Parts: sequence; structure tokens; C-alpha cells
Amino acid sequence: MSYDRSVSADSHKLSPESVWHIDMPEIRFGRDATDELAYQLRDLGVEGTATGLVITDEGVADAGHADRVVAHLTDAGLNADLYDESEREPSISAIEDCLSFVREQTDNGYDFYVGLGGGSCMDTAKATRAIIANGGSPLDYISEPTGDGQSLTESGPPLVLLPTTAGTGAEISPVAILSVPEKEIKEAISSNHVRADAAVLDPTLTTTLPPELTARTAMDALGHAIEGYTTHEHDSLLRASDPAERPVYAGRTQLTEMFSEKAIRLLSGGARTAVHNGDDLDAREDMLLGALFGAISGLTAGASLCHAMAYPVGNKYHTYHGETIAVLTPASTIDYNSASDPKRFAKVADIFGVETAGMPNREAANALKQEYIQLQQDLNVLPSGLTELAGITEEDIDWLAQQTVNTQERLLRCNPRPVTKEDVADVFRDTLHNWED
Ligand SMILES: [Fe+2]
Repeated sequence: MSYDRSVSADSHKLSPESVWHIDMPEIRFGRDATDELAYQLRDLGVEGTATGLVITDEGVADAGHADRVVAHLTDAGLNADLYDESEREPSISAIEDCLSFVREQTDNGYDFYVGLGGGSCMDTAKATRAIIANGGSPLDYISEPTGDGQSLTESGPPLVLLPTTAGTGAEISPVAILSVPEKEIKEAISSNHVRADAAVLDPTLTTTLPPELTARTAMDALGHAIEGYTTHEHDSLLRASDPAERPVYAGRTQLTEMFSEKAIRLLSGGARTAVHNGDDLDAREDMLLGALFGAISGLTAGASLCHAMAYPVGNKYHTYHGETIAVLTPASTIDYNSASDPKRFAKVADIFGVETAGMPNREAANALKQEYIQLQQDLNVLPSGLTELAGITEEDIDWLAQQTVNTQERLLRCNPRPVTKEDVADVFRDTLHNWED
């Protein structure tokens, strides 16, 4: 094979990978699962009249969800303080603000933490809990050259996450993504110590999500599901001599494929209703479950080209992640990558609901692309391409392609098809207009 996908280690004493494993928080799912938050915390060892911190943002608080959670905890004999100043795509200084709040209110941090909201609130809660437990500041734990690259050694007291959006997968992931505005980049604190102990997923918390946010997060989740389903197989990697060196994105397995298939069905089937009729709890439940399943697959098997291209776009133009994924998916994940395994993409088309009987595989993959674009158009709130998204034109493509290749090697190495800078530029070019505005 000319393309080396051995992302494991530099050691040459390696054999093909034969093992996979999966780390997950405890998961509690269903309508009004919020009412079991206190039980979940007790189950994780929270005792007596312990005091915790609910970390959220203004929008989630205004929707009444923070009051609901605090009242529930109080009724259960626990104490809860509220921090509702999480920022969208939190910067390092936003995390420092939350850390200062905790250090002003407590001597050694809270007895438990609850992250309530979208990915940004959940990542703020994950980073805060971990840094309070380990000491120091965010930069200590961000990899070099931006930070010091120290390792976290402690997880800290229990952390439970309650997503109010259906898409990011932050409730199960082992990373907290932080922006570094002065460098126009995002960095991550990545460790199993960052992962929450439990996720409580309650579709009744997602009905207040407006159509734009519902559509964006749905497309992000769909991206995780399809990218996870079509990434390389886990045994196409080399096996590291130390299991601790197994990469976070370890390739697809029977387990991740199963979750992707279900996720693609739920998300492609429910998105139109959830966007256009936000009170439909059945559709909201499908979206939340689909997003969870998409994350279980995509965030363990690995995201690939589309997510790699999305980060430079988001960093420079401050676009919403899900919208960026939506715009890039047809040309990257579907068009470019389907050449790696047309049969697999024909299967995705079938799961997506495309009538593929008697269709050659490449034709089915193309039909998938059309159906995906149709879904975006039907949602009626998504941009037609990079130009409508952020005014991006031909002149910007070279820089974006170069940034993708320079900064996203971790994701590009997971891509099922080799990628050069010229390939990335061609794919960017194809995403300027997915349909006529
Ligand atoms: Fe994503």
C-alpha cells in the first residue's frame, strides 16, 4: 500500500492492529431523564448535602433549563451554584473566567459539576472540572507549541453533562476544544480525564432549540455518522506496542458501524420534522439518539477529510461548525472519498433512504450526494456553499487548502483516500456552490 495509515507510533516493531476498545461515560437517555440527574450523581458517589456547580450559558438559562436543573438538585437535598457565562466556542480566557469563579466560591473546588447546554457549555464544564482537579491553567494542558503539553493525572469529582443540542457529541468525547483568538486556531485539552462520568440525554431539553441551530447540529451529527462509517478499518493500522499509544481515532469496527447505520437512519429521517416542527418530541428524540450514536461511531472510529477542512474555515471565518460540515460534506466525504470504496457509499445511500436497487455503486454514491443536498435545501436554513456561508471565493482556496494540510494531519491520516494539497483545493472549489443561490 503506497499510503501509510500507520498512525500509531514510530516504532517499527509493530504488527497489524487486532484489538479495539471503547471508553464511554455512563449514558442515561429519554424524556425527562433530567429528573434522574440527582440519582445519577448519587450513583457516582455524591453524598449528603454536597454542593455542585451547574455550568451553562445565558441562552440555556433564559430557556428555563438551568432553573429546572437547579430546582431538581435542591429538591434532592443537594446544593447547586450556577455559572451561566459560558461562551460560544470558549476561548482560553473564557475558561479562566470560569476557573476564577470556582476558586472565588470554594477552597478546593465543588463536590460535583454539571455541564448543561451545547458543545461549548459542555466543553467549558469538562475543562473547568479537570483544571480545578489538576491545578494550573488551560495552557498548561494544551499541547506544544501553544501550551506546555502537561498531562492531566486526575479526573476530579463527578461530572455529568446534559446536552441541549443534538449534534456535537461533546457529552461523550474525551476532549475540550478551546479557541485561541489571537492565533485564529482552536486547540484541545485531550485526555480520558476530561471525559464526563455520565451523560444524561433528555429530548425535552432540546425542544427550545431554534430551527437554525437544530439544522446545524443535525448536519454535524450526520457528518460524524457518515465519516465514521466510511473511515479506514481499525485493523488497517499498525498495533502499538503499548495499548496507551492506540490513537483516539482508531478506525471503524463492527461496533461503530452498527451505531453509524442507526444514526444515519435516525438523523436523515428526523431532521426535516425536527427543524420545521421543533415541538415534535418524537423527532427530537430521534435527533438526540442519532447524534449520540453518530458520536459513538464518528468520535471513536474517527472523523476525516470533511472535519479536517472544516477547522481552518471555522478558525478564520468564525462560521458555525455544523454549517461548515453541511457545506463541505457533499464534495469531501461523499464525492472525493466515495472513490475509496464505492460499494460502502452505495450502502450509505441505501441507509439514507435512496432507492438504489439495480444502481451501479458509483451511481448510488452520486445519488447519495444529491439526496444529501436535497435534505439541506429542505431544511431551508443552511447556506448553499462556502460563498454564501462566509463570502469565500476562489482567491481564498489556496490558503485554506494549505492550512488544512499543515494543521490537520491527525484527521487527514484517518481519511480513507490519500489527500494532497491539490486534492483539498479541488474539493474546496467544489463546495463554493452546492446549489444555485
Ligand atoms: Fe463535528
